[in-house]
Amino acid sequence: MNRSEALFYRYGIRPILFRLGRGDAETAHERTLHILALISRSRLLCKTIGHLTTIRDQRLHRTVCGIPFPNPVGLAAGMDKDGVAIPAWAALGFGFVEVGTVTHHPQPGNPRPRLFRLPEQEALINRMGFNNQGAASLARRLARLQPAPIPIGVSIGKSKITPLEQAIDDYRASFRQLFPYAAYIAINVSSPNTPGLRQLQDADQLRALLADLQRENTELAHSDRRGPRPLLVKIAPDLSDTAIEEVLTVCTDYGVAGIIATNTTIGREGLTGVDPRLAAEAGGLSGRPLTARALHVVRLIARLTGNRLPIIGVGGIHTPDDGLRMLEAGASLIQLYTGLVYYGPLLPRRINRAILTHSKVQQ
Ligand code: FNR
Repeated sequence: MNRSEALFYRYGIRPILFRLGRGDAETAHERTLHILALISRSRLLCKTIGHLTTIRDQRLHRTVCGIPFPNPVGLAAGMDKDGVAIPAWAALGFGFVEVGTVTHHPQPGNPRPRLFRLPEQEALINRMGFNNQGAASLARRLARLQPAPIPIGVSIGKSKITPLEQAIDDYRASFRQLFPYAAYIAINVSSPNTPGLRQLQDADQLRALLADLQRENTELAHSDRRGPRPLLVKIAPDLSDTAIEEVLTVCTDYGVAGIIATNTTIGREGLTGVDPRLAAEAGGLSGRPLTARALHVVRLIARLTGNRLPIIGVGGIHTPDDGLRMLEAGASLIQLYTGLVYYGPLLPRRINRAILTHSKVQQ
């Protein structure tokens, strides 16, 4: 896809998709996902779309945390929480999908409206609050999909009804159910929309959570030929550099396979010119205003770990150049969410093409 195709999406397709929601961003999202879920049911359609959009090239292959990825561009958590459209994401050329975040108990999330577009800033604010059908439902859906067309990461979080003191039991229950189907498991301790969740990034709490999940991981691996699953921890961009260093120490101590950086920010920097009421909506900010911060966090992690701990870079990747910069900063893989909303489904293809022509970030 060249620049004119990008403009075609922006001025031709995007207005139609945005209007699908009749002014409500979440409705537009749901309807788009519904279309992708329908596409996913047709093997022929997926194959045809795949021929048109997917770049298959050995030079894009990456093995990260022991998992072979057909290319380094993934779908970020939250876009397809219940894993309803995985074949369509694969057809669109993604190298992997992170489904979830799911919780042990199914839950409706926060009251609507809870997703807001800031088109001028190419940003979103969301306070979805882990609306999802629950870990058991996702496990059933993933079981039907085996073998998965691309690696599937599964993001788990804490159910709202579970008190923070019992968070570990809640994560463990989801972990157990989803273990068989996950290429990796992402521990989400960084969503700003579940009260108290981000406290689990504090060293002591994180230590207890990781110790428990790794114990479970070892136990489940006894009866699984693929062995233990790589655990990745997803962090917030709002942590100080010192706090990130502490998280990394704990992660290294407990054999965490990688870091996903970053989740949405509770900060509102870079929102000049936005209706102050919109900017003040509670929730996590994603997209363009997050690009620089996410890049900083990835660079910091790469430096602190001597590039030894794999990083999935996510936050404000909207163009092929953003993707290349994230890889150059030290990310082994990258993920997209808000960029997909503003630049369309051919963004993974454009980024992968850029990787192929850019020798520095080829493996
Ligand atoms: C998210 N994100 C997210 N992350 C996560 O770990 N679990 C989740 O359930 C969600 N849910 C979610 C919903 C919505 C509506 C958005 C916009 C984002 C965060 C997402 O995966 C990503 O980390 C950030 O959005 C930053 O990347 P982008 O959007 O700037 O590319």
